[in-house]
Amino acid sequence: MTGVFCYTCAKRFSYVRNIYYIRFAPITIVNYMRIIIPVYSLISRATFCANMSGSSDKGRVLTREERFSYQNVDFKLADAVKTDVIYKYFRDASTEEPKVLTEETVGDEHMDKTVPTTYIIHGFTTDDSSPWYKPFKDELFKLGPHNVIYINWQKAGNKSYSVSSANIDPVGKYIAQFILASGVLPEKVHIVGHSLGSQLAGFIGKWVQKLSGKKIGRITGLDPAGPRFDYPEAPPTNRLCDTDADFVDVIHTDIQHYGYTPPLGHVDFYPNGGMDQPGCPPRQIDVKCNHGRAVRYFIESMYIQAKAKEANFIEANDYYVQINVKNNPKEVIFGYFAERSSRGVFYLETKSSVPYLIV
Ligand SMILES: *[C@@H]1O[C@H](CO)[C@@H](O)[C@H](O)[C@H]1NC(C)=O
Repeated sequence: MTGVFCYTCAKRFSYVRNIYYIRFAPITIVNYMRIIIPVYSLISRATFCANMSGSSDKGRVLTREERFSYQNVDFKLADAVKTDVIYKYFRDASTEEPKVLTEETVGDEHMDKTVPTTYIIHGFTTDDSSPWYKPFKDELFKLGPHNVIYINWQKAGNKSYSVSSANIDPVGKYIAQFILASGVLPEKVHIVGHSLGSQLAGFIGKWVQKLSGKKIGRITGLDPAGPRFDYPEAPPTNRLCDTDADFVDVIHTDIQHYGYTPPLGHVDFYPNGGMDQPGCPPRQIDVKCNHGRAVRYFIESMYIQAKAKEANFIEANDYYVQINVKNNPKEVIFGYFAERSSRGVFYLETKSSVPYLIV
């Protein structure tokens, strides 16, 4: 059975049981097929998984074995420089070409300091052309006057995962300096990051506190990156945590794969249990579907108000995780309009296609 370590190959044991049972059964065509099909399936999966493991470090299925054997981030590997971060400012809904700003020029931009200001942050190996930036920005402007800033940190976040994950510390510092230079009060700032961008958001929050003594208003972690952060669990100083902003809300959709597994914010939503999202194909077919769903659910929550139920996060010795709804659970609003007083772990179900959220 060795060689089949793919994360989604977890059902492999049922085949073993199957084969074992029929040893005592007469050899009929049906039983013969019962042996042949699982064996074929095991071989094809093993081959597929091996191919994936041999591919580049980006966008492949992480085997269960490697997923639980990462070291924590080695921050000494960081090599980012200030010019690695690009800031694109949208003043209002009619802004077609955003203005590229720097820490030196943002002060002269006279951003409206009375309106909410949202920073949008991508993850590992992508940039600000990531397909969720524009729909998210458009929904933000529908809510009223807003400052929107696209962060592009691709130059520091498109290296090996070891270096990219270490770069969240210096990049967090640069963005914190930019926020402070903008003149917008940190409490007016909302940072929304996906994957490694969520972990980066945490570092922005830490750096704003170190440099100014003030806290960012809100950080939303959309499926915060897990590898190098959760097994073993990094100390709160080295990952997103609930002291990084006045309110830290998190949506988990790909736990134990690309996403961070345990709760880490003030409020942690685990749609459909946080691991396998309805409508997503197996990870070997589409490795990013589950990880990307956090973003889709969050943007949908800006116009569909779904409720989530209070739950317990239960982790057994073998890493098996369950999100169990409590008896008579408290209900809270899911996603963008989550009340800032919400605390705890919450569960909700979604549909398998758009609109995902159920009112
Ligand atoms: C990341 O780097 C690779 C080369 O290693 C390049 O092909 C790819 O376009 C880069 N991605 C982005 C978003 O810049």
